[in-house]
Amino acid sequence: MVVDFGGQYAHLIARRVRELGRFSVIVPAAAGPEALEREAEGASGIVLSGGPGSVWEESHDWAAEWAVRSGKAVLGICYGHQLLGKVLGGRVGRAPRPEFGPTPIEVLAGDPLFKGVPRRFTVWMSHNDAVLEPPPGAEVLARSPGSPVAAMRWGDRVYGVQWHPEVAHSEWGMELLENWLEIAGAPKNWSPGDIVAELVDYVRREAGGARAVAAVSGGVDSTVAAVIARRALGDRLTPVFIDHGLHPEGEVERVSRLLAKAGIEPLVVDASDRFLEALRGVTDPEEKRRVVGRVYGEVLAETARRLGAEVLVQGTIYPDVIESGARPGADVIKTHHNVGGLPRDLGLRVVEPLRWLYKDEVRRLAEVLGLPREIIEKQPVPGPGLAVRIEGEVTREKLEIVRRADAIVREEVERAGLHRGLWQYFAVLTTSKATGVKGDRRSYGYVVAVRAVESVDAMTARPARLPWGVLERIAWRITSEVPGVVRVVYDVTSKPPATIEWE
Ligand code: XMP
Repeated sequence: MVVDFGGQYAHLIARRVRELGRFSVIVPAAAGPEALEREAEGASGIVLSGGPGSVWEESHDWAAEWAVRSGKAVLGICYGHQLLGKVLGGRVGRAPRPEFGPTPIEVLAGDPLFKGVPRRFTVWMSHNDAVLEPPPGAEVLARSPGSPVAAMRWGDRVYGVQWHPEVAHSEWGMELLENWLEIAGAPKNWSPGDIVAELVDYVRREAGGARAVAAVSGGVDSTVAAVIARRALGDRLTPVFIDHGLHPEGEVERVSRLLAKAGIEPLVVDASDRFLEALRGVTDPEEKRRVVGRVYGEVLAETARRLGAEVLVQGTIYPDVIESGARPGADVIKTHHNVGGLPRDLGLRVVEPLRWLYKDEVRRLAEVLGLPREIIEKQPVPGPGLAVRIEGEVTREKLEIVRRADAIVREEVERAGLHRGLWQYFAVLTTSKATGVKGDRRSYGYVVAVRAVESVDAMTARPARLPWGVLERIAWRITSEVPGVVRVVYDVTSKPPATIEWE
């Protein structure tokens, strides 16, 4: 169990633990002592994770005291380490030298936590404060230039480390976590592929005898959720694909065909006029997302009513559950469709079989379920579709332009065989207009931007170095085949500071 004090790494720690074959959950400290107590039942160990502040600013002492009292194995990481130092009676304060980035570590004492790990190695640190003197009875296990107590053990089962073993830049991080999990006695029994039957049971139980709809988009999450629900409910489930008129060219047919192959041919509901009507005059990107989410919810609820369904099956995954529910104050960068965009109260009982799983675990399930490769590998299309790839107001004319341009980008990238290495590749219709010359006459028209990025999880991304010839061909085809476009530019910005989509 990972207690999250609002740092960046709680998810990464929980994922690493799962990669090491143990199930893990995240519980925000903000959820309060009862929630922690409830969730800790059945946990072998408790990780106290990082946090943005100083241990002197906001009092989380109760959480560390509770973890120590629980008698379970405890691992404090960074802020969690300092919190342990504080509540156990050590001295915590400004580090003699704040450490950010790669930092050398020296292991001082033999301990099961460092089994198989060398005496000196490099880890990734990020801290201003440090444990300056160990708590009474604690053993100092490691030090670094800015952390006299970079690692410590108190009693048999309480450990703290100042660095972040969960990040890839820390050497021996996975070994350290594995050692701690062994100390905790956490059985190695987690494998996402093994839980298909459990998830099917879960949906059956939650749905009771009711009819259900599954909102499907063609993405891997909603497809896996619907396939599981089909196994649980048989014909009582109707997969519903809402055509909001904002899909890329051929997407509705492509998705229907793939889902049929996966055994969940969807009911396609054409509501494109309604979406376009609702989007008229809307220029703000977040407002567009809200409008699309609202109308999507309405159409879905009406469809469910028409089918006599009381249950909605959704492909929500773990990061969405934690991020939308339990992290007040976390900065909203974009309101993602399946998280903030969909109205909460649709009059349907929501069943989310994937709510405990990470993306890579859902992909693993997709493989175990034998879903077509094209679904697992399909590039993501944002919920609001082309609405967030048209800067400013969405009109039929602009939709037509971006859809044609986007199809050309897709065709050329795929023809060159480059798509496998890319996370996404698409066209954006900007609000810029520019001058061109067509057939000896001045023309004045739109500027289309092409975006192609490499990424592993969409949290960070790099512009793809597409071959010049492919880019030139894309520009040539878009300007000759798409009326109204006079110029094509390529977006070479990374995320951060840009995002993948333009809006
Ligand atoms: P950004 O633009 O935030 O995108 O870097 C990260 C990933 O999320 C997708 N995306 C969305 N997906 N609804 C979605 O379902 C949305 O509103 C939305 N906005 C962005 C984006 O395509 C990329 O894969």
